[in-house]
Amino acid sequence: MPKRQHRSEVESDLGLLFVTVASGFEKDAISELQDSLGDALVRCRPIFKGIVLISTSIDVRKAAKIVEGHKTSYVAKVVPVDRVVKADLERIVDSVLEIGGIEEKDAFAVRCTRRGRHPFSSRDVERAVGNAIRGGRVDLEDPNVTINVEILFDKAYVSVLKAGEMVSKRVGVERKWEKGKRPLNRSELKMVEILELLPEIASCNVALDLGAAPGGWTKILSKHVRKVYSVDPAQLDEDILKLGNVSYLPKKLEELTIEDVPQRADIITCDANISAQELVSVIGKVVADFLSEKGLLVLTLKAVTPKIEEELTNSARVLAERLKDLRVDVLTLTKLPHNTRRELTCICKRM
Ligand SMILES: C[S@@+](CC[C@H](N)C(=O)[O-])C[C@H]1O[C@@H](n2cnc3c(N)ncnc32)[C@H](O)[C@@H]1O
Repeated sequence: MPKRQHRSEVESDLGLLFVTVASGFEKDAISELQDSLGDALVRCRPIFKGIVLISTSIDVRKAAKIVEGHKTSYVAKVVPVDRVVKADLERIVDSVLEIGGIEEKDAFAVRCTRRGRHPFSSRDVERAVGNAIRGGRVDLEDPNVTINVEILFDKAYVSVLKAGEMVSKRVGVERKWEKGKRPLNRSELKMVEILELLPEIASCNVALDLGAAPGGWTKILSKHVRKVYSVDPAQLDEDILKLGNVSYLPKKLEELTIEDVPQRADIITCDANISAQELVSVIGKVVADFLSEKGLLVLTLKAVTPKIEEELTNSARVLAERLKDLRVDVLTLTKLPHNTRRELTCICKRM
């Protein structure tokens, strides 16, 4: 059989990982994958409910092992992809033969998972591939080689994997939460941690939550304060919109006007997806316009360059200088358990 090729047809210079994740938690899974792979992760796309495709600059099998070694809650299965071909029985069989790597001594199993409508079943794929392989013997119980075919609509992601090369992880989120207690997203857990650090939030009247969608922070804040103004150009979750004390302002934080928020806020929070540097340049005006005397300010500083620590430290320094002019002191700059590798949380108070 020809030599194995680990590169996909569609992304010739990058490797591909087909990753199944907790459905509805794709963003959180992507964040975990980014944390695990760092700069080796070139591109990350949710391509279907519960499926994320990763392009990586390193060997795909090595990348899968790196993810295996990291603590994750939302990642289920990490499959290094050898070929991406048209979802056609003949093309799939050909691609398996081209990848090769199955020897006489091997015990193999073919596994196919199909999503979408096709004129063949998963079982047809398994049978066709199994029949075409010369050498080795079928062993569905304890194979040392698995031919894995993930079909998603018109594409088939084909891999020939030795035992242990496909990584399966326990999805914590599926079982972790009692009924009705599941958080909206990972961000919500950051706000729970902030509340532990800053119990005085509970005595605030008005909160202004910037970069609020889908609404994890707003959800927690709304339980503790009288009124929450939630600002985000993206849509808030339906259940959050229904909360009686939440006003949704569908705009960017830079576009906020005094008319939007008719009262000063006792706490301003910002988890917007903007770089720490951008945040530093825009937050001063919001503080000046909306933060009350003795008000609290909670910001997630987000790094966007590879020099994460340097970027965050510099931004925090400039932020502290700018806020001083507004009589706002930085109380803590901390890494919360649910901050990503690229984030720090900055807690401040107006004096
Ligand atoms: C990580 S999410 C926030 C999650 C939120 N804290 C929660 O608990 O659900 C980041 C949000 O920032 C928003 N965003 C990005 N740029 C923004 C801007 N200039 N002003 C306001 N929101 C912004 C995005 O639309 C996105 O919804």
